[in-house]
Amino acid sequence: SGYITLDYGYKNTGATTSAITFLDGEEGILHYRGYPIEQLAEQSSFLEVAYLLIYGDLPTKDQLAHFEHEIKIHTLVNEDVRKIFDGFPVNAHPMGVISSLVCALTAFYPESTNPDRNQEMIELTIIRLLAKMPTLAAWAYKNSQGHPVNYPKNSLDYCSNFLYMMFALPVEEYEVDPVIVDAMNKLLILHADHEQNCSTSTVRIVGSSQASLYSAVSAGINALWGPLHGGANQAVIEMLEAIKNDGGDATKYLNKAKDKNDPFRLMGFGHRVYKNFDPRARIIKKSADQVLGKLGIKDPVLDIAKQLEEAALSDPYFVERKLYPNVDFYSGIIYRALGIPTEMFTVMFALGRLPGWIAQWKEMISNKEPIGRPRQVYVGSTKRDYVPLDKR
Ligand code: CMC
Repeated sequence: SGYITLDYGYKNTGATTSAITFLDGEEGILHYRGYPIEQLAEQSSFLEVAYLLIYGDLPTKDQLAHFEHEIKIHTLVNEDVRKIFDGFPVNAHPMGVISSLVCALTAFYPESTNPDRNQEMIELTIIRLLAKMPTLAAWAYKNSQGHPVNYPKNSLDYCSNFLYMMFALPVEEYEVDPVIVDAMNKLLILHADHEQNCSTSTVRIVGSSQASLYSAVSAGINALWGPLHGGANQAVIEMLEAIKNDGGDATKYLNKAKDKNDPFRLMGFGHRVYKNFDPRARIIKKSADQVLGKLGIKDPVLDIAKQLEEAALSDPYFVERKLYPNVDFYSGIIYRALGIPTEMFTVMFALGRLPGWIAQWKEMISNKEPIGRPRQVYVGSTKRDYVPLDKR
C-alpha cells in the first residue's frame, strides 16, 4: 500500500539511526564512537576497540582487564564442536566452516535462541562469540592442513593466542613475533566496524527477526564471504598473482577492468561510500611497507600492487568513477607477510568485523527496531489461470 521508493542496493536508503561509526565518504573520514581510526590504529589494542564499539566508551584499566579475562575463560569450545570438524573435507573453505560452526553454537547454547533472553544472557553470548571465534578460525585452518588442533593458551593475549593456535606445531617450539602481533592488532582494528555495509546490514536484518545472535553473526560471515565484500582481500592477492604469472603487465588487467563486455573488476578498487580515498587503505599501505621491511620480506606482488595503483589513479576511467584502492587492496599483502594463508584472509576480516556486528546488533535490539522487511515493485505476470499438467 502507498508509495514505494525503489532503490537497488539501498544506495540512498537509510535503514536505521546509529551512534557507532561515523563515515564521511567525500572527506575520507572514519570514526568509531567519535575516535578517528588513525588514532585507534596507532595507539589502541583490538579488544580495547571491541569494548569501545560494543559498550560505547573506551574502557578504564579495570574494565579492560575484566573484559579480557572474561574472554580468556571462554576460549575453549565444546569437544563436540571439535568433532564436527571431522565431517568437513580437508580442503573446505574456512569461511564456510566457521559460519556453520558459529551457527552450530546455537545447538550448544539453546537458551541463546530464546527471544526473551535477558541482559546477562546477551552479555554471555557476546563474550562467547569474541572468545570462540579465533579458536574456530584457527581450527578451521588446522583442519585444512590435516593437522591436529591447538587448544587455546590463555596466558597469551588475544592476537598471540590466535597466532599460536594457527601456527604452533607439536614438533617445535612456537614463539609469537611481536611485529606480527602488532600488525594483526592494527588490521583487526581497521576492520572492526564500517556502519551499514552488506554483512552488518545482514546481521541487523537477521537479528531483527529475533533469531539468536549466533545465527545473525553466522549470516554476517556468509555475506562477508562474497568477493565484492570481504572476499575481495583473497581476490586481490589472486589477481595480483595472476598478473605476476602473466608477465607482470598491470595495464593489460587495467584494460580488462575497463572493458564493459568483460565481467572482470579490479579487485580492491572502488567503494560504495568512499569517493576520494579510503582512510583505512592509507594506513594499511604504510603499514604494509613497514611490516615487510621489519620482517625482511621482499614480495614482488607488492610492486605489482603499487604499479597497478599508480596506473589506475591516472586513468580517466577510474578517475571519473572515483575508484580508489580500498581497505582490501593492501591488507592481503600484509596477511601474506604474516604467514596467513590466502584462504584465511577473509576469516581475518571476519575476526576483525565481529565486534562491529555485535555492536550493531546490540544497538538494533536496544532501539527496539521492527523486523527488517523491504518492499518491492512487482514486475511479473498479471493474473492468469492454472493450466492442468496434461494440457501444457
Ligand atoms: N573495477 C572496474 N570498474 C569498477 C570497479 C572496479 N573495481 N568498481 C566499480 N567500477 C565501475 C562500475 O563498473 C561502474 O561503472 P559504470 O558507471 O560505467 O557502470 C561504476 O564504477 C560504479 O560502480 P558500482 O558497481 O555502481 O558501485 P557500487 O557502489 O555498487 O560498488 C563495489 C562498490 C566496492 C562493490 C565495487 O567498487 C567493486 O566491485 N569493487 C571491487 C570489489 C572490492 O574491492 N570490494 C571490496 C570493497 S571494500 C571492503 C568491503 O566492503 O568488504
